[in-house]
Amino acid sequence: MIAPVVSSKRDVQAFHPFLKLNRLLGDIPAGRSPLADGAPIALQIGEPQNDPPPFITEELARAAAGWNRYPPPRGSELYRESCVDWLARRYPSGAGLVEGDRHILPLPGSREGLFFAALAAVTPERDTILMPNPFYHVYAGAAVAAGARPMFVPATAESGFLPDYAALDARTLERTALAYLNTPSNPQGAVADRETLERAIATARRHGFVLCLDECYSEIYDATPPPGGLEAAAALGGGLEGVLLFHSLSKRSSAPGLRCGFVAGDARWIDRLDAALRVGGAGVPLPILAAGARLWGEEDHVEANRRRYRANFEAAEAALGAQRTARPQAGFFLWLAVEDGEAAAVKLWREAGIRVLPGAYMGEPDEAGANPGAGYIRIALVYDAEFMHMALTRLGEVLG
Ligand SMILES: Cc1ncc(COP(=O)(O)O)c(C=O)c1O
Repeated sequence: MIAPVVSSKRDVQAFHPFLKLNRLLGDIPAGRSPLADGAPIALQIGEPQNDPPPFITEELARAAAGWNRYPPPRGSELYRESCVDWLARRYPSGAGLVEGDRHILPLPGSREGLFFAALAAVTPERDTILMPNPFYHVYAGAAVAAGARPMFVPATAESGFLPDYAALDARTLERTALAYLNTPSNPQGAVADRETLERAIATARRHGFVLCLDECYSEIYDATPPPGGLEAAAALGGGLEGVLLFHSLSKRSSAPGLRCGFVAGDARWIDRLDAALRVGGAGVPLPILAAGARLWGEEDHVEANRRRYRANFEAAEAALGAQRTARPQAGFFLWLAVEDGEAAAVKLWREAGIRVLPGAYMGEPDEAGANPGAGYIRIALVYDAEFMHMALTRLGEVLG
């Protein structure tokens, strides 16, 4: 059993998985990959490799008059309304809970909002930030930057790969400023059901902290659309109190370079986050908001993306065997159980020029040194199915 861990690290980059990976592989020469030219294959990073819809370019050109304006902190009415409309279509039971003017902030991708939420939430009395373990590194970096205690709560196979914040002791919860909950989760692709979301929201409300639901993978699912925090808030009553919902076009629309997303939630927390972003945030330029509004209004390309990732999981199953791949409910990562993730990453690099992320680099060890990610590697299934099949067949040969 891995217990919650509080880290005393004070370096914002201490949790960055790619820096750790660069150190691990350092000077080890890459082996020849199965590509015709033997060039290395990057499976460590979750960056979609297909193109976003071409209409982005048209929208950027049409709105080009906006490049000489500073991004309005609350975005444009068109953009806010496109977010409200999308939320209402995606989570019908929550329709009516979100007003564009009060409850929406545009974000240059979800990362900046997730980071600034920590800066906005921490106070001398509330100095703890909860996050799952394993975790997206920005949560931990944000906690450290905000001067808070990052507390890593187990999200292992035993807990369905999700953290249970309600099970923490009341003293910890009273010290908590903010909790991050990532569903569907990176790296495991786990999905919180409605009851789990309700329990997390109720806990945040009871103890007076803000629950940041990172739903940036919500549209990349296999069979069933994952439930959202908006539906859970609607079922609980009490409006959006204590909740911030983070969404992004990066995965949904394969547009991480556009830097466009939004946060919806509790008007009081939206105001606090807005105030912090006005000091240090980049904002979202008007032409990008115009392209973003069109993307939120269009679902065909998103369905095409889902088909693409389904085909990739099928390719993974064909290459590695269905039992071994443990297809997740959502997301585009394979969280592959191995004996020792670091050793596997070194072997794959040295023998086959394949770069993957050791699961331990997304996890924080407890005092006894147990790291919930140690027995895994994370593989991003972001190329096309033929490429994935070729790369994973080789990966299977190397790992045996
Ligand atoms: C769990 C999680 N949250 C947030 C992000 C940030 O994505 P973006 O800022 O592009 O929306 C990522 C990106 O990889 C992620 O994996």
